[in-house]
Amino acid sequence: MRISLGFQKLDGHPLNASDDSPAVETIPDDESIYICSTFLDCDPDVLLRMERTLAPDELSRAAKFHLIRDRNRYIASRGILRELLATCLDKNPRDLEFVYGPTGKPSLRDSDQPTPRLQFNVSHSHGLAVFAIARDRNLGIDVEFIRPGFEGERIAERYFSAREVEELRRLPAEERTEGFFNCWTRKEAYIKADGNGLQIPLNSFGIALAPGVPARFLQGVPDKWHLACPTAPGGYVSALVYDGPSCEILQITVDHAVEKHTSRILN
Ligand SMILES: CC(C)(COP(=O)(O)OP(=O)(O)OC[C@H]1O[C@@H](n2cnc3c(N)ncnc32)[C@H](O)[C@@H]1OP(=O)(O)O)[C@@H](O)C(=O)NCCC(=O)NCCS
Repeated sequence: MRISLGFQKLDGHPLNASDDSPAVETIPDDESIYICSTFLDCDPDVLLRMERTLAPDELSRAAKFHLIRDRNRYIASRGILRELLATCLDKNPRDLEFVYGPTGKPSLRDSDQPTPRLQFNVSHSHGLAVFAIARDRNLGIDVEFIRPGFEGERIAERYFSAREVEELRRLPAEERTEGFFNCWTRKEAYIKADGNGLQIPLNSFGIALAPGVPARFLQGVPDKWHLACPTAPGGYVSALVYDGPSCEILQITVDHAVEKHTSRILN
């Protein structure tokens, strides 16, 4: 079974009827990045379908989770990723092979795909997954659940730049938790896009973090990188970092019941 995709611009508006619908073989084109966010708790039949597409190493990783809930979410996340990539490549999800960089960043095996190569990145938090897919550009995505009342000051002092800590302290108390998670996701997305893990010291670069203020890099990040904040469901915040020419970001929706409609109350 193959998923079909619906398209929305980053501002939430669907593509006009006059916009060309991309053909499966060419999606995404090299001027677009696709973002998909979905909750991971799915019905048993959907989960089984996902599980059947996983490779042996993914199945053994799934088996190591202590909680069934986490095992199932991992299977769903990998299964949806495979379906999304397979849809873009017009292949069977189970025929895709992932390879891993030195710090564990997954990518598709080159021989599995034509050029320009498909690149992707994934993040999950509190039952939600976000996927970013593009051609021929490095990208990193991060999503975090905004834990209400989370006191992030100590963590900020340890990992954020001096300028970011200062900006966080200047925020009104009621905006500080969101400001903290804005900064965290944006930093994490950059680290993930770069792909070299924590070789870039987290306090060596600066990012604007205030809620309602456009996200941008402030210092310490090479010009080739772009930062965007894809819309996330209420209570979550998300950030995307990518290189190459600035481009259109399309939110895509999966058309079938991946999500278990009764399980929106996350635990
Ligand atoms: C490995 C790392 C990506 C973990 O990130 P995380 O926030 O725990 O997890 P996320 O859900 O965002 O991302 C996990 C996904 O990223 C991908 N990934 C794994 N290693 C990666 C890497 N080195 N680079 C990019 N993506 C990576 C995988 O697809 C993984 O999904 P999987 O578990 O299904 O395989 C890494 O960035 C890390 O450990 N960061 C340090 C955390 C930290 O101190 N952050 C401070 C921010 S201020």
